[in-house]
Formats: sequence, C-alpha cells, structure tokens
Amino acid sequence: MFGGTRGTGLKLIEKALAEGHEVTALARRPEVLSARFPGIRVIPGDAFSLETAETAVKGSEAVISTLGFARRSRETRIYSEGVLNIAKAMEEVGPRRLIVLAASQGIDPHPDFPWYASIMMKILLQPVFGFAYRDMAKMTDLLAPSDMDWTLVGVPLLTNGSRKDRYRSSIGKPLHHAFRIGRADVAEYLLSIIDDSGTFRKWTEVAW
Ligand SMILES: NC(=O)c1ccc[n+]([C@@H]2O[C@H](COP(=O)([O-])OP(=O)(O)OC[C@H]3O[C@@H](n4cnc5c(N)ncnc54)[C@H](OP(=O)(O)O)[C@@H]3O)[C@@H](O)[C@H]2O)c1
Repeated sequence: MFGGTRGTGLKLIEKALAEGHEVTALARRPEVLSARFPGIRVIPGDAFSLETAETAVKGSEAVISTLGFARRSRETRIYSEGVLNIAKAMEEVGPRRLIVLAASQGIDPHPDFPWYASIMMKILLQPVFGFAYRDMAKMTDLLAPSDMDWTLVGVPLLTNGSRKDRYRSSIGKPLHHAFRIGRADVAEYLLSIIDDSGTFRKWTEVAW
C-alpha cells in the first residue's frame, strides 16, 4: 500500500492486519510504520520512483493508494504522476488490482447532484482544492484506458474517531447528502472491495 504513514492509510494498515492480510507499505518515513506495525514489510522510498514502486507491488494481490498532498499545498502531481507511477509499476511486475482513494465529485459537480452541493463545490471546494481536483481528473483520464482492475474511491470530508460500521456507497453515480465519513470506515470499505468485481474499472463513492 501507498500512503500508510498518515490518516486513512494508518487505519487501513491497522484493519488489514486485524483481518489477517500481509501488508507491504512504501513510505517516505518508514520509521513511522516500523515502530507502529512491527509485523509489516516496509519499503523506504518515494511514490514517484518507479523502481521503488515495483519493489513494493511485486508479489502483492492488490494495491491500495491513500496517497495525498500536504495541507498547505497549492499544487500536486500525486494522483496524475504518483498514482500513475504505481500503475506503471503494476503493469511491469504483476498485480492487476488497484484501488485509489480520492475525493467525491471531481471537478464538475454531477448534473444529478443537489443544487446546494454544486454551490458548495463552486464556492468552497474548487477555489481551495481546484488544483487537486484537476490532478485527480488527469489521473482518471490516464487510468481509464489501462487494462488493470482499478477502482477510484471518492470520499467527502474525512474525520477521525471510531468506526460507525454503517456507511453508504455507490458505484458509478454520486451519493446524495455525502458530507463526511470517518477514516476508519473508509479503511473498512477499501478492504471490502478488493475482490468485488462489480467495482472494477469504476468510480465509486462512500460516505456516512
Ligand atoms: N482530508 C479530507 O477531508 C479528504 C477529503 C476528500 C478526499 N481526501 C483524500 O483522501 C486521501 C487520504 O487523505 P488522508 O487525509 O487520510 O491522508 P493524508 O494525511 O493526506 O496522507 C497522505 C499520505 O500520502 C503520503 N505521501 C504523499 N506524497 C508521497 C510520496 N511522494 N511518496 C510516498 N508517500 C507520499 C504521505 O506520506 P508522508 O507521511 O511521508 O507525508 C501520507 O502517508 C487523499 O488522497 C486525500 O486527498 C481527503
């Protein structure tokens, strides 16, 4: 997995280990993971390095990315180049199943979406996070033609705290009234769709 040293990634590793999965994680700060999860294999390095990404994905059944960008960023290539680098590594050395965590809705609110959500998107989210939505859109366009079993998972605002174990999800269409979800429930969802072929090559959404 990629992006394990913070937020959803930490929850994901915790849950994956509890479910008995073997976990390999690429991390720029390997010491965070080695100290917290002695049972996992940690590959030190950067998601933009093809060689390191190949080492990390080789032999895995599925690859999950919870990669993100730093809070005060004004630009990012983490989706269009970081995630695409992982996809390239997977094409080179084997696993076909790729699950990528991103944000709900993309740059243009879905026509089916309630008016207030479209306004929120235009007034609040696009001015602040437009750069990230544009990079996610670029990633989506680049990933679409690949013949991998990818799934892009869109989430609204993420929160910490305990799992509710109750959340809604959709495949290929937006979730209405999707305002937030806890990272622990996202982790549960990401693991639950690994073998779900109904989500292959699809955009899904998950929210409380
Ligand atoms: N926060 C929200 O409310 C929200 C809402 C919608 C969507 N999302 C999306 O959900 C995803 C997860 O968000 P989060 O807040 O749970 O986690 P996060 O705090 O954004 O964590 C990002 C992870 O990516 C790693 N990373 C970034 N660049 C890397 C690189 N070049 N090489 C290796 N690792 C790299 C970070 O490692 P380091 O520890 O080394 O920095 C960290 O482990 C992100 O894609 C985010 O955009 C978040």
